[in-house]
Amino acid sequence: MTSSPKPNSFAARDSQYHLHGYTNAVKNEKDGGFVVVRGDGPFVYDENDKEYLDGLSGLWCAALGFGKEQRIIDAAVRQMENLPYYHTFTQKAPAVTVELAEKLVALASQAAPMSKAYFCNSGSEANDTAIKMIWYLNNALGRPQKKKLIARVKGYHGVTVGSGSLTGLPLVHKDFDLPIANILHTDCPHYYRFGKPGESEEDFATRMAESLEALIQREGPDTIAAMFAEPVMGAGGVLTPPRTYWEKIQKVLKKHDILLVADEVICGFMRTGNQWGSQTYGMKPDIMTMAKQLSAAQMPIAAVLISQRVYEGLRDNSGKHGSFAHGITYSGHPIAAAVALETQKIYEERKILDHVRAIAPVFLEELRSFADHPLVGEVRGIGLIGALELIKDKKTREGFDPSLSVGPNLIRIAHDHGVILRPVADSICFCPPLICTEGQIREMFKRFRKALAETQEWLKSQAVAA
Ligand SMILES: Cc1ncc(COP(=O)(O)O)c(C=O)c1O
Repeated sequence: MTSSPKPNSFAARDSQYHLHGYTNAVKNEKDGGFVVVRGDGPFVYDENDKEYLDGLSGLWCAALGFGKEQRIIDAAVRQMENLPYYHTFTQKAPAVTVELAEKLVALASQAAPMSKAYFCNSGSEANDTAIKMIWYLNNALGRPQKKKLIARVKGYHGVTVGSGSLTGLPLVHKDFDLPIANILHTDCPHYYRFGKPGESEEDFATRMAESLEALIQREGPDTIAAMFAEPVMGAGGVLTPPRTYWEKIQKVLKKHDILLVADEVICGFMRTGNQWGSQTYGMKPDIMTMAKQLSAAQMPIAAVLISQRVYEGLRDNSGKHGSFAHGITYSGHPIAAAVALETQKIYEERKILDHVRAIAPVFLEELRSFADHPLVGEVRGIGLIGALELIKDKKTREGFDPSLSVGPNLIRIAHDHGVILRPVADSICFCPPLICTEGQIREMFKRFRKALAETQEWLKSQAVAA
């Protein structure tokens, strides 16, 4: 990210021709984009061949890193030679898509019994599909008034009209005329930020469940269809749930016959140290949405897994209407399915889950080594995902003035030191590829530590921090 890109460089052409998502287009026009030309393990390289360790796995997704995976190439090529495309409408399916559905239903059973897999191309689409399934189901069950959906402040579920409405981040709604009707947001369960003085973590979790119950009572339990939630809230700043939270929340949902949709788009496929985030936190979802690490991000593919109860409602209604009239041209695309299936085989054969469990203590130890740093308020993490929340005053937990952009500035400095991370306001998020070695994890933090030291110097020079 140079301040003025060389003429005709990729960076310059990027600013001329490419509109990015989640980007300040004014800045991109001026600075040019950060263009990546190749990858190797957890590293990516820009057009000047400068190396960066991507500590966020791209967008929390490149589980196997960015290097060449011959087996995945071979699987994709085999599929292209054999059947490059077929669809899943009107009872048809590519064979490989059936294999992947079978595999995912088996894997999901580690968290909760699931009956069928429906395929999409992105996490956003998967959550939009789940919304439509739930509405369709409740119409089929003769309860057309039970349609409202609960998500959480700071939850992230995507950007399409439905999933973007569920997302609890104001910027995703602002000027997009979102959220749509019938979407409710309940409290964000971030104990460090929202716990009251003297309140225990368990008491905070109880208060979160009581607040959910109060919301349901206010709206009318008969009007609430489902709650969408990530086991760990990723893009909201890696917010791990307080102890006993999921147990208490699920009790409330069960009482009112409200479905639980576990958004496993980030947590799924071993990120939290188990196959599913739902396992890590004892969640028993009725529906699971997943994407990202499903294919180690090497091909766009996502899935919605549904329980037998949900399936039966959809099945019966589709029989009544003559069709479950929801479908996407590329649902279960055979090349994407072949890549996802091969990815799952690689995870198993290379024992990636064992590796994550072995390396997570190193990751968490490194993360916790910042706990005493004067700029660090909270350290949070589980498995291979974590965050450091930067604060101005450790005692009062007062944050920095947002106009200082402390988090984004730190990320820029880190970028110069060759590590790519993600700021969510002043929380710095870490989510390295699952294949990182101990040395690479330590290297990521070494580069970050330099950036943090420079940020501290900069803040001192502004007389903002001690
Ligand atoms: C938990 C969660 N759900 C859904 C999505 C949306 O997925 P996609 O960007 O593939 O549409 C994301 C993306 O980061 C996510 O983190």
